[in-house]
Amino acid sequence: MKEIKIRRSVRVFEDKLLSDSELEKLVRAGMQAPSARNQQPLYYIAINKREVLKEIAEKVPGYKMVGEAGGLIIIFVRNEEHVAPKQTEQDASAATENILLEATHLGLGSCWLSTFHNPAKQDAISEYFNLPEKHLPAVGIALGYPKDKDALKFIDRYNKDLVKYI
Ligand SMILES: Cc1cc2nc3c(=O)[nH]c(=O)nc-3n(C[C@H](O)[C@H](O)[C@H](O)COP(=O)(O)O)c2cc1C
Repeated sequence: MKEIKIRRSVRVFEDKLLSDSELEKLVRAGMQAPSARNQQPLYYIAINKREVLKEIAEKVPGYKMVGEAGGLIIIFVRNEEHVAPKQTEQDASAATENILLEATHLGLGSCWLSTFHNPAKQDAISEYFNLPEKHLPAVGIALGYPKDKDALKFIDRYNKDLVKYI
């Protein structure tokens, strides 16, 4: 699939916000991901407002690029009991990859911002959004129109030494 080949982590974006419909397409892609025992433990915050992006960039360690991005999706694990709690992180990762591929399909750049297991980032995000329930921030995804027009390009990572065909 073309999108799998040309997806790249993009960290520098044009000063252009994502539209509401682009943001919704990306969230929909996340929600189509597989989920352990179909527990569907995730919650999304999707942002395309410059002032919010700038504030988050300032407050959340490692999220600096978000200030100039066209959008940000933060995936949370909902603060509820889940049937497969040890697999909520994998659920969030599956949703993330779906969003990265949908972004590539839309000609957008994207970057996975690690957040799970990083209390400084998680606390900063939780404090900023002041959600009624304390959902756990899992992954951030910076999104936007790549400044470098050739950013989305194929880098062949196939390594025959790392596979055994039987
Ligand atoms: C779990 C995970 C966490 C990541 N966290 C960050 C991050 O916090 N900041 C960042 O700039 N890139 C982050 N990345 C992106 C990787 O650096 C990137 O995927 C890697 O360098 C390979 O480049 P590519 O995505 O262009 O193929 C993360 C990727 C993964 C899978």
